[in-house]
Amino acid sequence: MHADVLANGQFCRAATAPIPTFPQRGKESRQISLNRSFIARLFPPARMAEGGLWAARAFFSSGFVSSFLFLKAIMDLLSGKGIVKRFGSLAVLRGVDITIRRGEALGVVGPNGAGKTTLFGVLAGTLPASEGQVFFEGQDISAWPAATRCRHGIARTHQVPRPFLGMSVLENTLVAAQHGAGMRGAAALKQAQDALDRVGLGALAARPTATLGLLDRKRLELARTLATQPTVLLLDEIGGGLTEGELHQLVDLIGTLRDDGLTIVWIEHVLHALLRVIDRLVCMDAGAVLAEGTPHEVMANPLVMSAYLGGVAA
Ligand SMILES: Nc1ncnc2c1ncn2[C@@H]1O[C@H](COP(=O)(O)OP(=O)(O)OP(=O)(O)O)[C@@H](O)[C@H]1O
Ligand SMILES: [Mg+2]
Repeated sequence: MHADVLANGQFCRAATAPIPTFPQRGKESRQISLNRSFIARLFPPARMAEGGLWAARAFFSSGFVSSFLFLKAIMDLLSGKGIVKRFGSLAVLRGVDITIRRGEALGVVGPNGAGKTTLFGVLAGTLPASEGQVFFEGQDISAWPAATRCRHGIARTHQVPRPFLGMSVLENTLVAAQHGAGMRGAAALKQAQDALDRVGLGALAARPTATLGLLDRKRLELARTLATQPTVLLLDEIGGGLTEGELHQLVDLIGTLRDDGLTIVWIEHVLHALLRVIDRLVCMDAGAVLAEGTPHEVMANPLVMSAYLGGVAA
């Protein structure tokens, strides 16, 4: 197993099937009303200046079409086109098209077994697609191994955190900084400490990981991804198993990462948590994208209700 893969926690496998918690109507509409500026996050001043410069260069050197394609590549950070994943004769993903835009927070929902985690595996490179392509920043990365994708900024967490229990909290994060981001020495140490501070684990750096409770293990999972210097975070049911109070803290934390400009894709069954963070929502069922759009549009889609409630449309 490659060390980078270890650093990004890619060896962990889904082992639990959390109970879906589908929110009641009325509740989500209040949560969906976004009171922040998505544009400000999508185009922070530094990114605008950088993107504008690149676009101007592309325009003057190659013309309008290349500028348009270049800007599209800037907007579409990570995407899967026609993704099929088969395990033997079982088709778990059946031609999934998904685009994650730079700077957005995208939620992914769907009944158990819909193929959500498998899709993350294909995007992160731990599972080779049977058919289809994965693009990152306009580049076809389908052939890239997980470790290379991690080095380029694609980081993921897993449904069940499995840190190195024999290591301290800091050591766990240091492994990610060294192997996930390729840093060494004092720079790696600082990167690890900064990641722990960012998730609120700075004071627990010396603690043996085995003594951490579930919320802190989830924080550590996040810190390990942050230490790899990600551009996009793929969060797989990171809210699962937490109490309401713990979940609230975790949602606040993910919200700050989003506000810092990280692109977030979050698979979650706990929808009321998801709806506090996301801009767009995708619903998967039986290996396909059933609906996508604003959270309100998707939640109101009869097909989505039907998928959750077993054929009874709302
Ligand atoms: N390595 C594998 N070999 C065979 N089948 C697999 C494998 N991994 C996943 N599957 C099957 O693929 C389907 C989709 O699994 P996946 O874990 O992607 O679903 P999910 O949407 O993440 O579900 P959950 O919400 O329960 O986490 C399931 O039927 C699962 O049993
Ligand atoms: Mg899953």
